[in-house]
Amino acid sequence: MYSNSGNQTPLVEVRNMKISQEIVDAINDQINFELYSAFIYLSMGTWLEEQNLGGMAHWMEVQYQEEFAHAMRFYRHLTERGARVTLKTIEGPKTDWASAHDVFADAYHHELLVTARIYKIGDVADKLGDRSTQSMLTWFYNEQTEEEANTMGIRDKLKLIGNSIPALLQLDAQLGTRPPAPPIPAESTDP
Ligand SMILES: [Fe+2]
Ligand SMILES: [Fe+2]
Repeated sequence: MYSNSGNQTPLVEVRNMKISQEIVDAINDQINFELYSAFIYLSMGTWLEEQNLGGMAHWMEVQYQEEFAHAMRFYRHLTERGARVTLKTIEGPKTDWASAHDVFADAYHHELLVTARIYKIGDVADKLGDRSTQSMLTWFYNEQTEEEANTMGIRDKLKLIGNSIPALLQLDAQLGTRPPAPPIPAESTDP
């Protein structure tokens, strides 16, 4: 690592590019948070499985895989730019909920938190003029819109369903048809 005098943030030496330590730290934190997100969804999945809501449990398993792929997309960005990935301890997720509605309400609020975190990385990239990071983040901005819409939509359906078991089982069957997660991206800017 060396300092670029005149510039307030130290730069990490890389193969062909320069990346700010501030961005490396922010992305390393986000890799941890995406893995934490994966843990949360897997934990939600096992709780739903226990309630005999296998379709919703399947939906959560796909979500778990998607979150792992998000972590890997950030991982690729650091490695592509020659920076070091630092893996950290992953916090244990919540393990109990009062209802399927509460599971998806938590999922929606978690996605809002993720969006805010990703926007903050974007603010840092803007401040540093890091267009490479900004370009990579575009995929996440779109993904977060989708993640918020999906979790909010299921939460709202569960609110409408209330105590109706047939309606709950119908939604469960529908969520059980969620297609498998796309493969882990080979590059951080893969579509
Ligand atoms: Fe994610
Ligand atoms: Fe997510």
